[in-house]
Amino acid sequence: MTNRNPRLVVSTGAGISAESGISTFRDAGGLWEQYPVMDVASADGFARNPALIHRFYNERRHALGTVRPNRAHEILRELEEHFDVYVITQNVDDLHERAGSTKVLHLHGELMKMRAVDDPGFIRPFRDYDDTSSVDTVVEGHHMRPHIVFFQEAVPMFEPATEIAAEADIFVIIGTSLAVYPAAALVQYVRKGTPIYYIDPHPSRVPDGVTVIRATATEGMAELARILLKE
Ligand code: OAD
Repeated sequence: MTNRNPRLVVSTGAGISAESGISTFRDAGGLWEQYPVMDVASADGFARNPALIHRFYNERRHALGTVRPNRAHEILRELEEHFDVYVITQNVDDLHERAGSTKVLHLHGELMKMRAVDDPGFIRPFRDYDDTSSVDTVVEGHHMRPHIVFFQEAVPMFEPATEIAAEADIFVIIGTSLAVYPAAALVQYVRKGTPIYYIDPHPSRVPDGVTVIRATATEGMAELARILLKE
């Protein structure tokens, strides 16, 4: 028999990257206030005006190149010394990876990758944060698009995420409004009796049986680490 560390499953949203300087979507001044979501993040929008969508994600990539992981991302990585940590993120940034987290599943795609329009399995990395090659890029005969799950599209990573959540010994939600499905339903796959924490300064939809830590991600993660390491 080998002793394994408890499995800590952490579901993150835009709020964990807010203190790094990346805008959330639905807070005041958030991205969806500045851009019509159905123009820049939907399948119909991409069909209508792909150039606009490429421009929008090139701007996001450029912004990502100017920021760094914050203390919340770092604490999550540090917790790997004590827990079997799985990060399931709705974020398309790469700040969890840059902080050193080793198991990161992206539910909504990744900014620093592109994929073939005609083949979701044909995925290629961007090499730098200012890369604008996505506009009209053709790789091995495939027209490429952002590797982003648009509204009106299926979320292929949801099923693997539910399998990870179902094995959680501790489940944590950080910085998400829980407004977007199926991501918001992930918590329903956690086994009954599993401790669940929710870190957010303005939690809007609190699932039943959840301990709320009403704080920003950096403050809340510091507090959660104290709680978990004391137990
Ligand atoms: P939202 O913008 O909907 O929610 C952000 C959450 O972060 C809110 O609950 C805020 O209270 C919280 N928040 C703000 N500042 C914070 C801080 N410093 N620390 C911790 N929390 C903070 O973002 P998401 O829930 O991630 O999808 O949005 C889900 C999806 O909607 C995104 O993945 C994106 C968007 O449309 C796609 O684009 C495919």
